[in-house]
Amino acid sequence: MAELRVLTFPDRRLRRKAKPVAVAGERLRRLADDMLETMYASKGVGLAAIQVNVAERVLVMDVSEERDTPRCYVNPEIVSSEGEVVSEEGCLSVPEFTAEVPRAERVKVRAYTAEMEPVEEELEGLASICIQHEIDHLDGKLFIDYLSPLKRRMLRKRLEKAERTGKPAALQL
Ligand code: NI
Repeated sequence: MAELRVLTFPDRRLRRKAKPVAVAGERLRRLADDMLETMYASKGVGLAAIQVNVAERVLVMDVSEERDTPRCYVNPEIVSSEGEVVSEEGCLSVPEFTAEVPRAERVKVRAYTAEMEPVEEELEGLASICIQHEIDHLDGKLFIDYLSPLKRRMLRKRLEKAERTGKPAALQL
């Protein structure tokens, strides 16, 4: 297994729409393993392949408190959703920044495992929020896209300044 480099906003490569995975195999399993290792090392709850510069529809998650329940979803699709919830989100690709984002409260997801076995799951709570956030990544979308244009501009300026000065970009909006 290998830890992969995570792309960060405003890298344009995060804006690509990821393509469906067609074949199972060693390559897919290794990608999923490397993504999990990267996610655990960064203390993230979820990670989409596009964040490690692989434009394919693969995401990994672990929403357990014990960090012992790794999940991988290939070609995930939300087939139905219900309710509304607003929660504080962050993202490994937008470091040091969180914002409140509206999501569906419960979702039904169809996907494949890393072995390309079909699965259908109903998710709620953090798992539901996380998979919506990660599927957004696969469509080139970031959680900060839910912010107003003014707040997004402030965030971009703050991040550029942080990059110049080497100081963290923590910002409350
Ligand atoms: Ni993210």
